[in-house]
Amino acid sequence: MTSATAPGKIILFGEHAVVYGRPAIAVPVVQVRATATITDAPPASGCLLIAQDIGEEVRLADAAVNHPLALVLRLALAAAGISHEPDWRVVLTSDIPIASGLGSGAAISAALVRATLNHARQPAPPETVSRLVFRSEELFHGTPSGIDNTVIAYERPLWFVKGQPPQSFAVGQPFTLAIADSGIPSPTKESVGAVRAAWQADPAAYESLFDRIADIVHGARRAIADGNLAALGALMNANQQRLQELGVSSPALEKLIAAARRAGAAGAKLSGGGLGGNVIALVDGETAERVQTDLLAAGAKRVIVTRIGDV
Ligand code: PMV
Repeated sequence: MTSATAPGKIILFGEHAVVYGRPAIAVPVVQVRATATITDAPPASGCLLIAQDIGEEVRLADAAVNHPLALVLRLALAAAGISHEPDWRVVLTSDIPIASGLGSGAAISAALVRATLNHARQPAPPETVSRLVFRSEELFHGTPSGIDNTVIAYERPLWFVKGQPPQSFAVGQPFTLAIADSGIPSPTKESVGAVRAAWQADPAAYESLFDRIADIVHGARRAIADGNLAALGALMNANQQRLQELGVSSPALEKLIAAARRAGAAGAKLSGGGLGGNVIALVDGETAERVQTDLLAAGAKRVIVTRIGDV
């Protein structure tokens, strides 16, 4: 039996602008994970894929070419040098909320790729896992920047620029984030499409917005390296302002952001595609509990508190 896992993720700074070549910062969320478990099945029984959480079972041989999980498995098998259908039972589980900006799809794919390569006794370095997951993300999400698959495969805070190898960066002082799920699915493809249409209609205005976001992301990297959490919070608020201008915030997200700030968060913003999904708030030992309580009172379905930068 082979088991492999992959974490959730959030984007700290730079979502959307990252699609247009600007840098972004993303971190893994290790409290929630996707798991893939492969056991050998009797000879000639074929390969059965079981997505337990959604009650789906599909034989690899019968799965359509564009079946998302079958596609990832086929890519991983090819990468492992397996050209025939193996006799495997593949079980996928995850406690990462679906369609909420925590990267559940990419995490399930990453766990599946890792388990496949491990079961075939092949190495599964992060760059390989990231590349294979990206291929499936591309098919289902339009024009992804690649940030989700990268941070999930590398499992560490990353500085990411589309098309370039990711960079690790210094965290001067660990910090704590409250991640609040709005309960509204985040239609990343839609929000990315809306930003693209707006950019096409007025490229100069949007390029300048993306540049201003890039400045914020550079400032955030310095604030994180210096352990300057007050500056980091202010930069989260500044990034949120720009995301609002991009048109990807929403009244429900604004309500959560306002609640977190009122409860003492040093900064708060939406994270990921927006329109739904998550809000993140910078908290500390004193504010974490109140921010969490107030986020739930303001309509959050669930709040995860995670530390960034602990080794
Ligand atoms: O919605 P999420 O967390 O998967 O993030 C999407 C991030 C975008 O920058 C909006 C799109 C992308 O491909 O980077």
